[in-house]
Amino acid sequence: MLARLWLRLGAFLGKTLLWLVGLGLLGWLLSTLWFAWHHSGPVPTEEQIPPGEAAMTQGIIQTAVRIVDQHREGTRYLRDAHAKAHGCVKAEVRVLPDLEPALRQGVFAEPGKTWQAMMRLSNGNAYPQFDSIRDARGMAIKLLDVPGKQLLADQQARTEQDFVMFSHPNFFVSDVAEYAQNVGAQADGKKAMAFFPSLDPRSWQVRHLFIALATLAPAPASPTEATYFSVSPYKFGSANAKFRVAPDPQSCPEYSLPKQNQDLPNFLRSALSQQLSTDRIDACFVLQIQRQNPQKYMPIEDTSIEWKESDAPYESVAKIRIPAQDFDTPALNLACDNQSFNPWFGVEEHRPIGGINRLRKAVYEAVSDYRHSRNTPSDR
Ligand code: HEM
Repeated sequence: MLARLWLRLGAFLGKTLLWLVGLGLLGWLLSTLWFAWHHSGPVPTEEQIPPGEAAMTQGIIQTAVRIVDQHREGTRYLRDAHAKAHGCVKAEVRVLPDLEPALRQGVFAEPGKTWQAMMRLSNGNAYPQFDSIRDARGMAIKLLDVPGKQLLADQQARTEQDFVMFSHPNFFVSDVAEYAQNVGAQADGKKAMAFFPSLDPRSWQVRHLFIALATLAPAPASPTEATYFSVSPYKFGSANAKFRVAPDPQSCPEYSLPKQNQDLPNFLRSALSQQLSTDRIDACFVLQIQRQNPQKYMPIEDTSIEWKESDAPYESVAKIRIPAQDFDTPALNLACDNQSFNPWFGVEEHRPIGGINRLRKAVYEAVSDYRHSRNTPSDR
């Protein structure tokens, strides 16, 4: 009797489990089909500005300034993001001598031209935390002595073209509205819960939570060994494009970095210093662009979507060389901290586009102005 009861219970539990697995698979299949249908081309080639974006931007500036206040180091006000630098280094950006005519745009117009540049390498967090903590890593490049009208009306004295990137191809939010909600929640101390704004499952941003988790990656052995992505799109002449900077060790003398002590808080700075200052070995990268194919799902207004390389390959446009140098001195480090990199410092041919870039236009300037105004005059 008892044995039969056990058998029935076992059969019931087995069937229930089968049903649950079946339902799970069906749900997965339906969501995959929905995602593929929803995320397919063609897409617009022009910006689409949603109503209310400018008002949301003002709220985000206030949150950003609050973060700068919360994270100040002693008396010093740091960046709201990418607060900790591994170093600012001099670099040379050389346009490929045989660049094909369609890619000769903006600062890449003249094949073979070499631009002098400044590069800041950083961790993503607003705290200058240990390098061993999972994080995004940043690279900001500033080409110097760039002629032409600057995009920002009040920055005409600059002669710069900036490229601002981090080490993951897509962003954990799609647009300004989502950024306002998510970062507001994070600034209030919510972490993963920032991706679940209400009890309504339709508001849950599970895919974006996974992007955020993947962005916070273990540290590379050295800042010279990571690939950095623009994440958001830019004009590239009349085309739209994203860009990335990838290590290009073949263009430099062979080098094997001695293993660094990763228990030390600043081992990424040590790695950079070991290569450039102690071992006197140049570091090399290649700068590549990925042009939008509007027939594919390569949207301008959603930074959570990685533009697939199978839809549009990256094309090399320039080589970057960081010559051996001594960059780690108190004066150079202070000058590095006081620099401002901004995707909007540049010329029309490389205009930032899309909601997240429109947002960055107001926020970078406001945060940079705020931290500069707070730091003591002798520090500036
Ligand atoms: C597309 C994705 C983004 C990328 C690739 C990116 C990358 C970076 C990098 C590399 C830096 C450090 C620049 C330096 O070395 O000085 C930086 C700084 C900063 N980022 Fe972003 N960022 C992105 C999106 C955003 C967004 C959406 C916001 C806020 C609206 C934001 C706000 C800031 C601010 C305020 C700074 C500091 C500016 C300063 O004080 O000079 N970023 N970002």
